[in-house]
Order: sequence, then structure tokens, then C-alpha cells
Amino acid sequence: MATILVVDDSRNIRQYLDTLLRRRNHQVLDAGTVTDALGLCARAKPDLIITDVLMPGSDGYEFVRQLRSAESLEAIPVIFFTGAYYQEDDARAFAEACGVALVLSKLSRPDVILDAVDEVLRKSLPSQPKLPDPEFDRGHARVLTDKLYANVKELELSNAQLRVSEDQLHQPAGRLRSAQEDERTRIARQLHDELGQALTLLKMNCTWIASRLQGAGLVLPPGVADRLQASVQVADRTIQTVRRLATELRPGILDLGLSAAIEWQNGEFQRNSEIPCTTDLCETYGILEPTVATELFRIFQETLTNILRHANATRVQISLRREGAALVLEVRDNGRGITEAEIADPSALGLLGMRERTVLAGGKFSIGGKTGAGTTVRIQVPIDSGNERVPAG
Ligand SMILES: Nc1ncnc2c1ncn2[C@@H]1O[C@H](COP(=O)(O)OP(=O)(O)OP(=O)(O)O)[C@@H](O)[C@H]1O
Ligand SMILES: [Mg+2]
Repeated sequence: MATILVVDDSRNIRQYLDTLLRRRNHQVLDAGTVTDALGLCARAKPDLIITDVLMPGSDGYEFVRQLRSAESLEAIPVIFFTGAYYQEDDARAFAEACGVALVLSKLSRPDVILDAVDEVLRKSLPSQPKLPDPEFDRGHARVLTDKLYANVKELELSNAQLRVSEDQLHQPAGRLRSAQEDERTRIARQLHDELGQALTLLKMNCTWIASRLQGAGLVLPPGVADRLQASVQVADRTIQTVRRLATELRPGILDLGLSAAIEWQNGEFQRNSEIPCTTDLCETYGILEPTVATELFRIFQETLTNILRHANATRVQISLRREGAALVLEVRDNGRGITEAEIADPSALGLLGMRERTVLAGGKFSIGGKTGAGTTVRIQVPIDSGNERVPAG
């Protein structure tokens, strides 16, 4: 049984080695920084040190150098426990030249780690090479630079993989949303055209029958005329409902451009909420792809719904303007102001949908709030040559 000091800035690694080494009945101490480790060494005089190489504030080489220059600590064997890329021969040789007993990869199997520890503990420490300072510093700098470079490469690779996964995540979401919009458009048309026309025919037939019966001077059984009149009214109300449903599903006015649709939605919002809204909208007819216009319109609808449900606002300002090659939609309320925690909440599905739609439109989304001073939602989409369409007519 030996006393082993584990030095690593990652708590997970420290816990892992602790569990592993205790299985062989070693006593384990641990430290997250080189400074703490040196303090512990002076107090506890461990039989072996297992240390990471790159740590905030210092590094394994510096640690070894300080150990070797301290009386009574100079003979403690050290194992470097580090990344897989650190297995290159010259880096390994340099570490050993600095008095490191062994370089072990963090990817090593547990039994390999334990055997290596036993091996180092069994051997007596070789005499410590004292490198001349300039050589040590040069080698030290080179090895650390190599390691940093390998870390940066690893990070770059992870970032690239993250971007690919993000794209893959957005693709199905994008397909789903555009399929949803297509479906909404189809159902809205069917509702409006087929159901609307059938109901209108029904109403016309009822009216026709009533007038024919009246014209023929017949004495109708009691209640028949009233029933006919009531049927006409039901048909009328149902026609209104169908129109409303179709418009809610997809406002046909979107075909006239985003600013027209925003103007219309704003009118509906003011009627329902009685919150005064000011608008400053540039003309958008023909400058946006229909899919981009639909995404922006859906974001706008969600923004207004949120204002109604959460903001407690008394005024709303809506602006749609061109800024260079971009179109910017901004909705500002003077309500309680969304908080940072609400913005960061991963379960906020409304906000998530807004962000996803902005990505689909190739734009940038931002939302910000000030306590008691309102919330601002801003979406910017590019109007590049792809989006710049010649207005019809
Ligand atoms: N204009 C606003 N003013 C103040 N708080 C807001 C505003 N907009 C959003 N919030 C806050 O952000 C939260 C998240 O909004 P989000 O639209 O994602 O969810 P929701 O409206 O609660 O539910 P839903 O998923 O039905 O949209 C809201 O619950 C609310 O607390
Ligand atoms: Mg919402």
C-alpha cells in the first residue's frame, strides 16, 4: 500500500483515479492545482504523484521542476497522466529526461494504469537528471506548444463535429416546419374553397326555398318558416367560422407580402387586446421568398401572443425596415421585460420555435428585456439576390 497524490484540474479524473487506486488499497490524496499539490507534498510526502500536464496556472513540467528542486521531495516518482496525443516519442523522451517516471495515456485501460503504478512504485527512482536551464526551457516550451496545438486541433475538430450535428438537427426540423406550412396552406384552401362554397350553396338553397314557398302563397305548417330562417343564420355563422379558421391557419393576405400580413395581424391583435400598437413598415412585396415571409410572419404571431400572455404591456411598437442587404423586423413592448433566465430556459418552446424559424430563414434572432422596461424581439434576414424578386405587375 502506498500514498499516492493525484493532481488534475478535472474533478472527474481525480475521482476516477481515486476509485481505481483504492481498489489496490492505496491511500489517495488529490489536488486540483500545482500550488495545492506542492503544499500537500510537503505535508504528506507521498510515495508517488500522478499528474496531468496542462492545468490552469501551471503545468506538469513546472511541477516536476519545483519538486526536484525542493529538498525531501526530489525523489518522489511522477507519472504524467495525459491525453492520447501526448504519446509521441520525442515528447515522451523529454518528459522522461525531466525526471518523469512514465507517461500514461488517459485512454489507458484501468488494469494498464494499475500495473504501471505498481511498476513505478517497485522501481527505485533513477538518479535525477539536472538539465541546464536554457535547454530545459526550450524543450519545455516546445513540448507545451505541441500539446496546446494538439488541444486546439482537438477543439477545432469537436467544433466542426458540433456544427455538423447542429445542421443535422436543423434539417429535419426545417423539413417538418415546411411540411407543416404546406399542410396548413392546403387545409386553409380546402376549408375556404370547398367547405365555404358548400355552405354558401346550402344557405342559398334555404333562402330560395323560403322565397318560393312565400311566393306560392302556401299556408305553411307552423314553425317551418322560422326553421328555414334559423338554418340560413346557422349557415351564415358557419361560413364566418370557416373563413376565420382558414385565415388563422394561413392568412391569404401573406400572398400580398409580409408587411400587408403584419398590418392585418396587428389590427386583429389591437382589436383583441386593446393594446395600442404603432407600426412603421417598409414595403416587402416581392423582396422575400414566400417561405422566408411565412417564417417571419409566424415569429411575429408568436411574439404578439407572448406579449398578450406575459408582458402586461400598454404599448407595442412594430417596425420592419431595410438595413443594407437585410430586412429587420423589430417588436418592442413596454411590459415587465423578459429575464435572462427565461431567455436561457431550454424548455421555452415558443422561443425555440422562433429561433428555429429564423435559422430556416437564414437570419439572426435576438430577444432582450429590461425589468419593468419591456422586451424587444429582433429578427434580421438577408435580402440577397436570391431573395430579391422582381415585384409582379
Ligand atoms: N414579451 C414578453 N414579456 C415578458 N416575458 C416574456 C415575453 N415573451 C416571453 N416571455 C417569457 O418567456 C417565456 C418563454 O416564452 P415561450 O414563448 O417560449 O413560452 P410560453 O409562451 O410560456 O409557452 P408557449 O410554448 O405556449 O409559447 C414565457 O413563459 C415568459 O415568461
Ligand atoms: Mg409563447
